[in-house]
Amino acid sequence: MERIEERIRELRNEIDAHNYNYYVLSQPTIEDRDFDFLMKELQQLEAAHPELITPDSPTQRVGSDKTEGFSQIAHRYPMLSLSNTYNYDEVADFYHRVERELSGRNFDIIAELKFDGLSISLIYKHGILSHAVTRGDGQYGDDVTANVRTIRSIPLKLRGHDYPDDIEIRGEILLPFARFNALNKEREQNGEPLFANPRNAASGTLKQLDPSVVAKRQMDAYFYYVPGQPTLPDSHYERLMDCKHWGLKISDAIARCHSLQEVYAFLDYWDVARKNLPVATDGVVLKVDSIKEQEQLGYTAKSPRWAIAYKYQAEQARTKLVSVDYQVGRTGAITPVANLEPVLLSGTVVKRASLHNADFIRDKDLHIGDYVLVEKGGEIIPKIVGTDLTARTESTGEAVTFPTICPACGTPLVRQHGEAAYYCPDSVSCAPQQKGRIEHFCSRKAADINIGPETIDLLYKHHFVNNVSDLYDLTAPQLITLPGIQKKGASKLVASIEKSKDRPFHALLYGLGIRYVGETVAKTLTKAYSDIDSLRAATFEELITIPEIGPKIAESIRIYFDNYDNNHLVDQLLFKGLNFSRPVQEASTSNADTQVLAGKTVVISGVFRHHSRDEYKELVESLGGKMSSSISPKTDFILAGENMGPSKLEKAKQLGVEIKSEDDFRALIGEA
Ligand code: IVH
Repeated sequence: MERIEERIRELRNEIDAHNYNYYVLSQPTIEDRDFDFLMKELQQLEAAHPELITPDSPTQRVGSDKTEGFSQIAHRYPMLSLSNTYNYDEVADFYHRVERELSGRNFDIIAELKFDGLSISLIYKHGILSHAVTRGDGQYGDDVTANVRTIRSIPLKLRGHDYPDDIEIRGEILLPFARFNALNKEREQNGEPLFANPRNAASGTLKQLDPSVVAKRQMDAYFYYVPGQPTLPDSHYERLMDCKHWGLKISDAIARCHSLQEVYAFLDYWDVARKNLPVATDGVVLKVDSIKEQEQLGYTAKSPRWAIAYKYQAEQARTKLVSVDYQVGRTGAITPVANLEPVLLSGTVVKRASLHNADFIRDKDLHIGDYVLVEKGGEIIPKIVGTDLTARTESTGEAVTFPTICPACGTPLVRQHGEAAYYCPDSVSCAPQQKGRIEHFCSRKAADINIGPETIDLLYKHHFVNNVSDLYDLTAPQLITLPGIQKKGASKLVASIEKSKDRPFHALLYGLGIRYVGETVAKTLTKAYSDIDSLRAATFEELITIPEIGPKIAESIRIYFDNYDNNHLVDQLLFKGLNFSRPVQEASTSNADTQVLAGKTVVISGVFRHHSRDEYKELVESLGGKMSSSISPKTDFILAGENMGPSKLEKAKQLGVEIKSEDDFRALIGEA
């Protein structure tokens, strides 16, 4: 037995070393065939002695468990973003600010590439990978450990011995261009929708519930930050070098800069050189090296003040405008989209681009057949930034003119005063509007019905669902008559629809999709009105007396309920048993003793440890308080987490508004 254990240990060490050489150093030291032999021997020994299997064994990268979803994990340190700069002057501003704030002391700037993937936080306990968490909202992220374990360049076990017992290491997960292109090719062959760029593909991959799918995609990861850890060196650079020794992949594109000139040289060099890298980068990150100096410079609510991102100019490509489509959204807004001759742009093929609105088309004087310049910034959809007028010839087509009637239903379009968009006013029979509204109603923050756009499309096409209320008549036997819907899926959907009847009043109200009635306004309204009948009876004058409800919102609410079809829809939904009223104990007077924040106006700022910002908002509201986004003399107090913004702090001081810490607040509401 001891000899078997010994052999297993040997094999694991050998395989780990080969993996490291191959995936981290990109310097393979063994033939694939021989590697497979080692792996097979280990698998056989482990199969014969399952009691000897450990989670850090190289055979354990792909676990067999599929998850139902991801659980949320609180970040130890909030995952912040970086403030962006776009030119050398802004970089100089950063450099000089650091210089000033460090009172002329010596400082180094570490320049690194900015990888364009998904941020990930790894936790290693006693050198073993214990958790991998996505950024999420910066406070809480998804536990994607099973998926991350499949990434070969991420060690399941740190190398060496001198790592801290408990360490968090942050980096970026990426899908290399080659893998991205192969994946899209495969999807095209299967008739599946293509990923717009490697980042989306990486994000879609990491969200897969089946780790074996993730393993096949062959993602990669680079690491760039170690938060906390007072016992590690007082140097960001040295910490990264430590990580490198522990087996994590640290990019070689990293430099210690002693002057602004050296920073510029790095920016210049990598602007060109990064195009030969196997993964997407979109800029450079500049960080003050000393951790002590970082702490002195501190943080704003959103980002560290000791680091910035410099974003490279988005790459442009020139291509031909083939045609223009006009898409109709759920509100009836018409969005023009350009169809282009496919062109390669920053590693992806671009076929479509947003044209924003009618004014944009006119200003750019677009003609069909024109050569246009497309650019891809951070957003998924590339945009047209100019027309090459010198390339226009007699054979260029006619000017692009915005339609006057709805491309889906033929109704004449309208444009409201002061608005950029044209709308189709037929909200009842215009198909894309109907489908869009059903999608919105089903969304998570509304009725939270577990259904995708394809299924909605299917239901609509087969006339099973013409509007939201028809959802509540669907039955499982009826659903399975549709192509591609199985028994299990059908009963799940029916159950999810049934469950939605009990969603809170504000969520269902939000789901109706009344213009300007977003989540917050819906909550304000459901506080003022205990049920939908009193809301729809409210006059414009009455509505505008509610704090935070202005004439624009009030008018939109009136327009919605004055429409016969909308009113009818609400009647039907009430008839089907949807909860369009506030539970009795939520009413503002009946539980006065638990309404510790009754009449208080609260502003939330900063990042928190015990609850997410949204949870605090809900707590404030459920205890009778009112949320406000800006500090005014009416503000009763500010619930301030860490890194509250300096401008907010200043304003609070000016107005003498009380600042409550997270702990003070929890004590006030009886939570701590
Ligand atoms: S440092 C507190 N370094 O950019 C500072 N971030 O906009 C932590 N990113 O969320 C970030 N490459 O996902 C850092 N070399 C790099 C990076 C990098 C890419 C991403 C990261 C972060 C975002 C900030």
